Amino acid sequence: MSGLRLTLNGTGRSVGAPPSTTLLDWLRETEHLTGTKEGCAEGDCGACTVVVDGRAVNACLTLLGQVHGRSVTTVEGLLGPGREPHPVQHALAETDGTQCGFCTPGFIMSLYALQRDGGAKTAEDVHEALAGNLCRCTGYRPIVETALTLPSASAETSASPPGGSFAGGGQRYEVPESLAALLELRAKHPDAVLVAGATDLGLGPSRSRAPIPFAIDVTRVPELQVLEDGADRLTLGAALSYTEAMPALAGLHPTIHPYFTRLGSRQIRNAGTIGGNLGTASPIGDTPPLLLALDAELTLASTRGQRRVAIADFFLGYRKTDLAADEVIVAIRLPKLKPGALFRIDKLSKRYDQDISTVAAAFRLSLVDGKVSDARLAFGGMAATPVRAKAAEAALIGKPFDAAAVEAAVITIGAELKPIGDMRATARYRSMVAGNLLRRFLLAETSPGIALEVASL
Ligand SMILES: Cc1cc2nc3c(=O)[nH]c(=O)nc-3n(C[C@H](O)[C@H](O)[C@H](O)COP(=O)(O)OP(=O)(O)OC[C@H]3O[C@@H](n4cnc5c(N)ncnc54)[C@H](O)[C@@H]3O)c2cc1C
Ligand code: FES
Ligand code: FES
Repeated sequence: MSGLRLTLNGTGRSVGAPPSTTLLDWLRETEHLTGTKEGCAEGDCGACTVVVDGRAVNACLTLLGQVHGRSVTTVEGLLGPGREPHPVQHALAETDGTQCGFCTPGFIMSLYALQRDGGAKTAEDVHEALAGNLCRCTGYRPIVETALTLPSASAETSASPPGGSFAGGGQRYEVPESLAALLELRAKHPDAVLVAGATDLGLGPSRSRAPIPFAIDVTRVPELQVLEDGADRLTLGAALSYTEAMPALAGLHPTIHPYFTRLGSRQIRNAGTIGGNLGTASPIGDTPPLLLALDAELTLASTRGQRRVAIADFFLGYRKTDLAADEVIVAIRLPKLKPGALFRIDKLSKRYDQDISTVAAAFRLSLVDGKVSDARLAFGGMAATPVRAKAAEAALIGKPFDAAAVEAAVITIGAELKPIGDMRATARYRSMVAGNLLRRFLLAETSPGIALEVASL
């Protein structure tokens, strides 16, 4: 095994395990750091939370290749030089915030990362930071209260980690540092798997114990890390994590920040990327409705050159996209809303926090002389791919944005989109709530101040 290195609890380590081994398995089985627990092995419970370069992530979904050159802190690394508890550990113990031995280490690591990220000002900040730490049997109130008393601590500064090429145990993990090198590898190895945050791919090695034979990591290529916030367009590198992209995305419209705080958990958003969300081609991914409503464009590249594809042309069928076997998604270009445009993005899921959408919707309207001149009604969860309801858009055009026009569009959505029924919801429920989300958009625009969320009642 060649050259995979990381810093573990402050000490440099060479890693001998195969590169798509999960960080959790390596910590527990090779390093015997068993404070980091395995609960669900699929990113849901937070028992495996560790801090990588200052950010909380799920060790169960993190591959060793991803942490090459990075700094990993586990709950054992929080102890002081005389093995005294860290202030977060001390505070939780003193205020009855400790839970069972499985849950507590994950909570501690999430709070430690929160502290380093500037701390929490409100209970809402704490809830957001802990949404990925699921068990609350012993009570949540003391944990939130404790978190609010913690002073913020200095953030870790992380140098740009290097690339590399690692092999072992029949696995290969490539970390190119330039777009040219990434595209070369992609062209030569179309069967290799592109890895970004691994919040989707990590489920293979973690839950199914299915190793990834050949992985190409896309996260250290500068073009895929671009963030350009221009006057009328936002360009996001495909491998920016949600956490990195969030401030710029949130600037597009006030409904976007609350929407994205419901995508996975803090741990998932610290690793997961928009490029990965598009790469899964899931019909219920949360970014496509936004991209469809804004008429976003993707930049795709291969050794044959670059091309731009409108997001509306990207999804070809269930889990099928226009991406060729030798291509990668480099960046996403999002036009900003024009002055006077109406917009709203909304998500319905069985659980408010950290749950995949049952239905998601993003709407954008332009009005001229009080009438709709242009409409985008984009949905996730309503078809085999993320879709626009084009007949319903047409039903709105030329009409004032009022209840009569919306009711006509709602009927059209029901006729045009035929969602499936599954364990999340019946087809009928999905059709009903898609219409209700459009009604909610109208209420938000025409009745400011009206309570639109259960939480605000
Ligand atoms: C607990 C949990 C909760 C989740 N909650 C949500 C949720 O609320 N909403 C939601 O939408 N998703 C959710 N997800 C799914 C997942 O986190 C997202 O889809 C995420 O955006 C995937 O990004 P990634 O970078 O981790 O992708 P990866 O797992 O690294 O890759 C996913 C796919 O994309 C491909 N890919 C990655 N980058 C590129 C690229 N640049 N070019 C071409 N192909 C590429 C990969 O080859 C792979 O096929 C959740 C997952 C978990 C485990
Ligand atoms: S073990 Fe549950 S999130 Fe990792
Ligand atoms: S299972 Fe750990 S506190 Fe509930």
